Amino acid sequence: MVAATSTKDGWSSRSAFILAAIGAAVGLGNLWRFPTLAGESGGGAFVIFYIGCVFLLGLPLLLAEIFIGRAGQTDAVGSIKRVARESDVSERWSLFGGLGAVAAFLIVSFYSVVAGWVLYYVGVFAADFGQAVLAGDPFRGALEGESQEQISGRMGSLFANPALLLSMHFAFMGTTLFIVARGISGGIEKAATWLMPAFFALLISITIYGAIVGDVGEAAAFLFTPDWSKLTPEVMNAALGQALFSLSLGVAGIITYGSYIRQGTKLGSTALAIALADTGVALLAGLMIFPIVFAVGLDPAAGPTLVFQTLPFAFESMPAGSLIGLLFFVLVLVAAITSSISLLEVPTAWGVGELGWSRPRSALVFGGAAFVIGIFCLLGYNILSDFRPLGFWSIFAETDILDTVDGFTGKIMLPLGALLTSLFIGWRADRKLLERTTGLSQGAFAIWRFLLAWLCPLAVTIILVTGLFPSLLG
Ligand code: PHE
Repeated sequence: MVAATSTKDGWSSRSAFILAAIGAAVGLGNLWRFPTLAGESGGGAFVIFYIGCVFLLGLPLLLAEIFIGRAGQTDAVGSIKRVARESDVSERWSLFGGLGAVAAFLIVSFYSVVAGWVLYYVGVFAADFGQAVLAGDPFRGALEGESQEQISGRMGSLFANPALLLSMHFAFMGTTLFIVARGISGGIEKAATWLMPAFFALLISITIYGAIVGDVGEAAAFLFTPDWSKLTPEVMNAALGQALFSLSLGVAGIITYGSYIRQGTKLGSTALAIALADTGVALLAGLMIFPIVFAVGLDPAAGPTLVFQTLPFAFESMPAGSLIGLLFFVLVLVAAITSSISLLEVPTAWGVGELGWSRPRSALVFGGAAFVIGIFCLLGYNILSDFRPLGFWSIFAETDILDTVDGFTGKIMLPLGALLTSLFIGWRADRKLLERTTGLSQGAFAIWRFLLAWLCPLAVTIILVTGLFPSLLG
């Protein structure tokens, strides 16, 4: 039993929290989804609009979630209840904590499947690099002698092989579950303090490498020169959704991590540090991937296969491509694991806080159930490839299992969670409690509450409605 608050498991320092929260935010969203979307949406205009979304909508929401956790000191549902009680409003607001826990649980199920693909490519490049070393030529290009078809064909063969997909998914989910079961200071914090420095070292090395061998000028022009005619409503919608996903908002993940913060931490600058780091990594990922893609004259708009098919082919003709390919996929894997633990932590903390379960039991129940849903997601690429879980709904009519879970959480649950968070903190939470807990200056406080009360609900409602009824966009 955990009796006194002093013995409660939690982050050992402010920097431990920041590192873990950056680990949660930086993930497949930055290294896979962001370059994919930026490439598909034609670059500059998307990127600039995205940055606006992060700082005008994401940052206020991030601080709102950190606040709820810090003030509530327990799982998301319990924390919202406590803030509601101290603000004299209905405890039913805690519903959005439960909604977030369900969303986090669903996201981790397919997140682990995609991370499993990454794990497979780590294996492919490790084997390739091993051969290069044995052949006495460690700095050769990747997968030498293979045609572009052969290299991209790997993804197709992986997808056609349920047993292989399943073992990768199992390994990734198992690792996530193991870390979460060990708790905050002994598990999640340890993982973050080891993995995040490694992550940044790899990120910087590969970006420098890309700058040397690739075409950074063209990549930077692509990423930062806006062609405003490309900023269609769909693109804005995607940018807003991506900002929420990338900052881990709307799923109560930051509420949960925030509940382990100790007294006296400055919340405003902490939120800012997290938003800056997350956006910096997304931009660096673009500056790392596109120079390599352009150097070989490949298509930046390849879509979700950009990282898995286009990039490996680019590595073939790059000096030390075999080694760099290996390092790149290790980098993505590290980013994915620190995010998946934060996802599984949300329902796990809920089981501990609301059902009174032990932590290992809660992690096992939710991690195990998410593993099972993930199995259906991966079977959607082979045995169940004709199955359309929400086929009756026009926006999901053509969508396979994994993309349905992704789309349902991303288009509906995340914006809904963000909307309720902004309404709750922007309108209902007690002002004194907010001021005392966040420690913001008066000016910053006024801007923060204005953005939460007005801009966030408005913008997020627009994403929700246009996401659900794309025909409204004409
Ligand atoms: N932000 C993570 C990423 O960019 C994904 C995530 C979403 C993690 C929600 C936790 C909660 O990959």
